[in-house]
Amino acid sequence: MGNLEVYWTADGSPSLTFEKILQGPEKNSQEGYVEKMHHSQGAWSETKYIYQTALERALSQAPKELRVLSLGLGLGYNEVMSAGLELSQPQTQMEIFSFESLPELQKNFLDYLGKGSSELFSECYEWIFENLSAEFDLRSDELRKHCLQKYESGKLHLLNAFPESLPKNQTYEVILYDAFSNKMNPELWTEDFLQGTLSEIASSDCILTTYAATGALKRSLKSLGFSKLERPGFAGKRDSSFYVRGVFAE
Ligand SMILES: C[S@@+](CC[C@H](N)C(=O)[O-])C[C@H]1O[C@@H](n2cnc3c(N)ncnc32)[C@H](O)[C@@H]1O
Repeated sequence: MGNLEVYWTADGSPSLTFEKILQGPEKNSQEGYVEKMHHSQGAWSETKYIYQTALERALSQAPKELRVLSLGLGLGYNEVMSAGLELSQPQTQMEIFSFESLPELQKNFLDYLGKGSSELFSECYEWIFENLSAEFDLRSDELRKHCLQKYESGKLHLLNAFPESLPKNQTYEVILYDAFSNKMNPELWTEDFLQGTLSEIASSDCILTTYAATGALKRSLKSLGFSKLERPGFAGKRDSSFYVRGVFAE
C-alpha cells in the first residue's frame, strides 16, 4: 500500500515520490516512508546519464536486436528513451521488458500511449514525450505512437512485479536496474538474490547499469564475469554501476 505524488526536479522534468505505509511500533499505528524515484537534480538528466549511456554503448558495439530489461517502469523514462533511440537508428530493433509492481503506473502509462492523455500523471507523460522526442529529433506524437505500436505488436512488454513476472528462459543484453533503494526494496539488492537472478537472465553479452553502487552488486556481478567501468554517480554522487560482459567488454 502506498501513495504516489508528482514532484518536479531541478532540470524541469517530472518525477514521483512513493510513500510506503508501514506498521508502526504501536498496535494500530502506521508510519510512512517516502522515497523519490529520481535524483532531485533531474529525473531526465539522471536517466540520460545512467541509462541512455548504457543503451548507446550497446548499440555502438552490437547494433542489432537487443532485449532490454527495465526494472521499474515508474513514469516510463527508460521505456520512452529506448523507443526513441530505436526510432532514431533504423537498423536497430529492441524488445523491451518493463517490470512494475504498482498497477496504477502501468495503467496510466498505457492510457497515455493510447489516447495522449491519462487520468493521473498526464502532465508528466506530456513533458516526457515532448522532451524525449526532441532529444531524438522526433515528433512527440510519432514517439508515442511508436511506443503504442511496440506494445501492440508484443515488442514492449508491460509486466508486473520482478522477479515473479520474469518470462521463462529469457535473457537480456541490456539490464536497466532502476529499482527503489535497498531501504524500500531490500529483497532486490541482496548478494544471493542478485547473483542467482542475474545468472539466469543476463545474456553472455550484457550491460547492466544502475544509479546504485553497493558491495553486494559489485561482488555478485564480479562473480558472474562482469567488469566494472568506473564512472562517478549522477550529480556529484561518488559512484554508480556500469558493468559489462562479453562483446560489450571488448
Ligand atoms: C526508481 S523508480 C523507477 C523510475 C523509472 N525508471 C522512471 O523512469 O520513472 C522504481 C520503480 O520500481 C517499482 N518497483 C518496486 N519494486 C518492484 C518490483 N519488485 N518489481 C517491479 N517494479 C518494482 C516502483 O513502483 C517504482 O515505480
